[in-house]
Amino acid sequence: GTAVTRGPARAGAGVPVDDAMIARYRQDGFLVLPPITSDTELSELRRIYDRLFERRRSLEAGDFYDIAGRPGGDSGPTLPQVIRPEKYEPRLLRTAHFLTSRVIAGRLLGEDPDRLDFFGHMILKPAVHGSETPWHQDEAYMSPAWENRGLSIWMPLDEVTLESGCLHFIPGSHRGAVVRHFHLGYDPAVRGLATDEVDPADAVLCPIPAGAATVHDCLTLHYAGPNRTARPRRAYVLVFKAPSRPVAGAASRDWC
Ligand code: NI
Repeated sequence: GTAVTRGPARAGAGVPVDDAMIARYRQDGFLVLPPITSDTELSELRRIYDRLFERRRSLEAGDFYDIAGRPGGDSGPTLPQVIRPEKYEPRLLRTAHFLTSRVIAGRLLGEDPDRLDFFGHMILKPAVHGSETPWHQDEAYMSPAWENRGLSIWMPLDEVTLESGCLHFIPGSHRGAVVRHFHLGYDPAVRGLATDEVDPADAVLCPIPAGAATVHDCLTLHYAGPNRTARPRRAYVLVFKAPSRPVAGAASRDWC
């Protein structure tokens, strides 16, 4: 039969994160991981990914949107996302990719992997027209009323290069606070946030092969360039968060 009988990955065996990598992650706020999936699974993930973007109009409201565009804009999506793809394709939660990522997240956050909150999304940078992802901290999208301790494991399904939109990180920026952000184009109807409180000269670029991944803290400043190649840049991002605690007397953010 084809029933999946594997339980959740309990052991850390085979998980490609050692103590030196954990120390580097704590220092820099990001880390490049070796492959976290197999070639066979990668082919299956690409099929699932493409099918979800093809059937985007049948997804529930809010589960597909263009982070760079206005709702209902007619220019065509340039940074389309599928939110919570696991809702439509539950087998994504039984992959080596997911189970390995959750163990890695637990190690890096110093938490029991089973206690982590999880949120998945797929970000597509279409060939030639895929827009840049401006500098931001993921924390800027989160509520300041909660203490957020989390990270993103960003895995491309296609090799990412400087030309196709690899990630850029500012080392150590996760040790600072949330900097001032604004909505793209200063248009509150656009979901995407950006900041200009960053010096790109400090950035470390992370071109990686398909199936490898980068991890970054929710406070790490990061950016991805436009996709100028003739191939799409498909990325699948898993966000893991430690259980949150409310922040007493949290200041509001003027871009929220
Ligand atoms: Ni981000």
